[in-house]
Parts: sequence; structure tokens; C-alpha cells
Amino acid sequence: MSKVSDAKEILEWYLLAGVDETCGDVPFASLKQGKEILRPISKQADNKVAAATAARRPATTGLAQDTSGAFQNAQEICAKAENLESLRAEVEKFEGCSLKLTATHTVFGDGNPEAKIFLVGEAPGADEDRVGVPFVGRSGQLLDKMMASIGIDRTGYYISNILPWRPPGNRTPLDSEIAVCLPFLKRQIDLVDPDYIFILGGSAANSLLDTAETISHLRGHWFEYTKSNGKKAKALASFHPAYLLRTPGQKAKAWADLLRLSKELGSGNNAESC
Ligand code: URA
Repeated sequence: MSKVSDAKEILEWYLLAGVDETCGDVPFASLKQGKEILRPISKQADNKVAAATAARRPATTGLAQDTSGAFQNAQEICAKAENLESLRAEVEKFEGCSLKLTATHTVFGDGNPEAKIFLVGEAPGADEDRVGVPFVGRSGQLLDKMMASIGIDRTGYYISNILPWRPPGNRTPLDSEIAVCLPFLKRQIDLVDPDYIFILGGSAANSLLDTAETISHLRGHWFEYTKSNGKKAKALASFHPAYLLRTPGQKAKAWADLLRLSKELGSGNNAESC
């Protein structure tokens, strides 16, 4: 194997392990006791990096530490947002969730805002954070295939996440982070006004359906979701594509869920296996 592909494999392994940012040009043993840590970056370069970082990541306000204040602020923003674009602009400015400080992009939503189906995932991963669009990485590619198997592409649905910012290293989102950001997703759902919501994974299902049941129990059943205008949407939960990539043996159940969705949409069962 060439040195280039060795290096590529090592970098891919780092990414999988959640190591997706460098903090210097030269590695150093941060755990070595009693030795002065080498600072490979000159003071001047260091200042430039600090200034660029500060410009990109606004200093945290007290709001990010005050969950109920941040939640209230999120609700006020949502009450004023008349359309998806103004909501997107407000979410991009929001200072009440510290996940934003470590994220590169706000990942707001994608797809057709006129669609009757709204897909909900958990949180952006590294690829989505880099690009600013939900479900563009490996999970997204599988999801695209799953939806294509029932004849629907992104022009046929809108897609978003419980959280608009990537948790560092893809860690599990905190309940407080979900609580603060949930009004944004709910407002997005109100504005798209779908008839169907397809929920991907336990975390999204628990948040949106307000239940602590496991995804194994929730999946495959229809639920009623009430939008803020009082109108109902039919909600179906299924396994998250990232889980299906790790546990392909569960794909048959996800397939059954897709067929359930397809049948309900009236598109019949002319689907191909994914
Ligand atoms: N997983 C998610 O839940 N959402 C994304 O946008 C990407 C991966």
C-alpha cells in the first residue's frame, strides 16, 4: 500500500473516532507530565488563529448557560418567524446553544418546503457540519437510497434535524440542548405544514413524540402529531440510517416501515429493495 493511501486510511480512522480538528502543525504528547509542552505555532500565527476563531465563533453569552432563558428566547424567535428563510436567519444568529460554538455551519434544512412529507433526524455529523446541509454523509446516502426505493427523492420531501448544530465528536446530544432547539424544529414543521412526518431514530422520536419509549417499540406505528395551528400530521418512526449501517440485520424492519409510509402516501408497492 502506498504512503498516500496509508495516510488517507489513518485520517479516515481519526474521523471515525471523532477527531476532526487539528490544533497545531506538530504532534505533541499532551499527557506527558513535567515537560513543557512544545508550542509549534509562533506567537504571531497563534494570535491570527485566535482572531480568526473568535471571528467565526461568537463568544458565548450567558444565554447558552441559561437553558430556560434560551428556550424562551427560541420560542419568541419562532413566534415571530413568518417563513422558513426568516427562521433560518434567526437560527443562524441564535446564541442560546453552545453547540454552535464548536460547529462550522448551522444545518437548517433541505429539500422541498412544499412537500407533504417531513423527515426528521437527530443532529448533523461531520459531513453535514462541513457542508451545511442535512444528511449528506454516509447515513444520508443510505437514506437517499431508502427513499428512492419507494420512488421519492429530495424534491418529494423536506428534511431537518432535532438539532441544527453538530455535537462535538458526534457525542449524544444533551437533553438541555434538545430542549432549547426543539422550538426551531417545531416551527419548521409548522411552516412546511406536512401531512406526514417520518422520524429517523430514537432520539428524534422521543423528542418529537414526547415519549421515552425505545425506537424498537415506537417504529412501525402511526402517531398523531399536532402542529401549532391545531392541524394533525401522521407521524411514523423508524430506525436511523446510521444505526442501519452499523446493524444491517435491522434493514428488513426499516424496509417494512418504508412500505408502510409508501402505502399511506398512496404510491403503492412498486418499490425496489435497498
Ligand atoms: N445524522 C442525522 O441525524 N442527521 C444528519 O443530518 C446527518 C446524520
